[in-house]
Amino acid sequence: MAYRPYVVGVQEVSVEVVERLKEGASGETLAELLGVSRTAVWKFIRKLENLGYVIERKKGTGYRIVRTPDLSPYEIATICRDLRLIDEIYYYTVVDSTNRRAKEVAKPKTLFIAERQTDGRGRYGRRWMSEAGGLYFSIALPPQLPVEEIPKLTLTTGVAVAKALKAMLKWPNDVLYNGRKLCGILCELFGEIEDPMVVVGIGINVNNPTPSNGVSLKDIHGREFNRLEVLRDVLVSFERHYFRLLNGEWEDIREEWKCLSETLGRNVVVRTARGNYEGKALDLDLDGGLILDTGGKIVKIFSGDCFYA
Ligand code: BTN
Repeated sequence: MAYRPYVVGVQEVSVEVVERLKEGASGETLAELLGVSRTAVWKFIRKLENLGYVIERKKGTGYRIVRTPDLSPYEIATICRDLRLIDEIYYYTVVDSTNRRAKEVAKPKTLFIAERQTDGRGRYGRRWMSEAGGLYFSIALPPQLPVEEIPKLTLTTGVAVAKALKAMLKWPNDVLYNGRKLCGILCELFGEIEDPMVVVGIGINVNNPTPSNGVSLKDIHGREFNRLEVLRDVLVSFERHYFRLLNGEWEDIREEWKCLSETLGRNVVVRTARGNYEGKALDLDLDGGLILDTGGKIVKIFSGDCFYA
């Protein structure tokens, strides 16, 4: 199935035009700003209406946005204008998986975001329930990070999101609130081995229904959240921590991970491709591995599924 995104460049003039439309503008002014015909302006207005904007038309004065949807590619582009990591937005009303789209399009510095996913993907081939009201997005990163740093990026993303959402972490990067899952992160590497690309996929339960082990911001705070504000906070935090990692601040980020961790000091079972490990989680090693005391033997695990015993 072909999924049709709305593609908006962060610096596109249409993004400013939408802001201008919130104050009101004549068809003529809009045509001039956009550098298009009056017919094209009309089509642009229809496109905005399809995205959920309510636009008032008045004879003489022109068009004015009277209601803005809480998420749209133009609103997202506006919050990305001050970010260095995102140049373009691919916005889908429905898609299989934003990580899958990001890998297919393979365009660095692009944000893929969907209202709903029909085949949202979690770690270890699990599914990520992606009903309307949540945030489901993937960031295709520029090729700046050496492959061996990817495990650190996974942990760093957890720190960035947990701080933005005021939540805790379960190793490696499940974002939890009172032991229930508020957000899942799936970092994937793809492309040529000498020139790999990284996609960071993030699913946040905002106002959406969740599975029994999940929790949403709405459940926690007892009110609906503005998804654009949540997205902005998470993207700003992600970008800040990403550049900290790039600038050699891993040791500080690791300390922050330890402070946010619910895992250290607990008895855990970690399922890995090489079998299960049971023991007490002692520390996060400098290379990002989880150090376990399995009853006499100290082991280090780099990837796995962690359960509290
Ligand atoms: C996990 O905890 O298992 C990771 C879940 C990651 C879900 C997000 S939603 C946006 C992006 N697209 C996907 O298909 N998965 C990630």
